[in-house]
Amino acid sequence: MNKPFQLIRSRPATTEQQPALSICKVSKIFPADNGFLNVLDNVSFDMTSGELICLLGPSGCGKTTLLKLIAGFMKPSAGNIRIHNRTVSRPGPDRCVVFQEDALFPWLTVSENIAFGAKGLMPKSRVVPEVRRHLEMVGLTAFKDYLPKEISGGMKQRVALARVLILQPQLLLMDEPFGALDAQTREDMQNLLLSLWEKFSHTIVFVTHDLVEAITLADRILVMGTNPGRIESEIPVTLPRPRKKESDAFHHFFRNLRSHM
Ligand SMILES: Nc1ncnc2c1ncn2[C@@H]1O[C@H](COP(=O)(O)OP(=O)(O)OP(=O)(O)O)[C@@H](O)[C@H]1O
Ligand SMILES: [Mg+2]
Repeated sequence: MNKPFQLIRSRPATTEQQPALSICKVSKIFPADNGFLNVLDNVSFDMTSGELICLLGPSGCGKTTLLKLIAGFMKPSAGNIRIHNRTVSRPGPDRCVVFQEDALFPWLTVSENIAFGAKGLMPKSRVVPEVRRHLEMVGLTAFKDYLPKEISGGMKQRVALARVLILQPQLLLMDEPFGALDAQTREDMQNLLLSLWEKFSHTIVFVTHDLVEAITLADRILVMGTNPGRIESEIPVTLPRPRKKESDAFHHFFRNLRSHM
């Protein structure tokens, strides 16, 4: 039986005391040829509802692994991940992941890709208007009948974004979603994400290698270190929004952040 649409749209009541996401002493160990690989070690942080955090760190420090643990694709070796006080034990409709490489179905049109995940989660009569609304939200109405191979990389990431937003997730997990885009498209996508975030107040964990992207987007930056992956510093981004990359304050913040890397 289909879930009533109303149920997935409503967000659980939260209180100031209850974090939207709580990562508590999480470690992840993978088996390796010569024993074990300790990928994440004792990682802890909390997020409030509607907060946007950027995870910044060198390749291999466990950023994607951490997102997969939060998504429920795998379990921590130690520690606990809670979303609104419920322990994560499997994937759920309250969380969605956007990856660097678009994972669109090549044989489905833009509209059909956006509709795909929504189909068992809302009444059929809602799917068409919701797809239309989300096409408009990401500026792809004119391309609704195109196949993924007929649109640009930036457009594909817009489809990927619309495809998860239609599911009304509380928590968006974004793994270098704009990493493969050219500078201008990347900036456009950052602006789009910020405008949607300001409107819908998702709680977002955003992984990036790019310091400028992290300063542009984040309420708070978590700098990770490697071997084993851990949180090395936590830096609130105090610059007012919208953030101007050319401003002295931005440059000053950038230099300060770089000194933590
Ligand atoms: N399923 C797995 N089995 C064994 N080792 C794994 C597995 N997944 C990841 N690893 C290892 O864990 C480490 C961290 O990988 P992860 O992909 O989380 O890093 P990352 O910080 O996202 O790196 P990048 O910035 O390059 O994307 C790497 O050494 C990787 O080889
Ligand atoms: Mg990664």
